[in-house]
Amino acid sequence: MSKIICRCEEITEDEIIEAISNGARSVTEIKKFTRAGMGLCQGRTCRKSIERILARETGRKVEDIGISSYRKPVRPTKMGSMK
Ligand code: FES
Repeated sequence: MSKIICRCEEITEDEIIEAISNGARSVTEIKKFTRAGMGLCQGRTCRKSIERILARETGRKVEDIGISSYRKPVRPTKMGSMK
């Protein structure tokens, strides 16, 4: 049984590996293939794990993976907390 990497969208490590084998080469592409990182936390919980899997499966360094696209917070945020 493959472990859950993205808890919000219930995406497993096997699904991420499958996306990579189907051509995904960035966190954003994995998002588009699987929805991993598109849940309520917007990847704050799973993004680093996805980067590590992508690096391992493609033989690259995690530093070379690059950042994924971000969306605005899902929940309302007080203006004072945005500094
Ligand atoms: S754990 Fe992946 S989007 Fe929240």
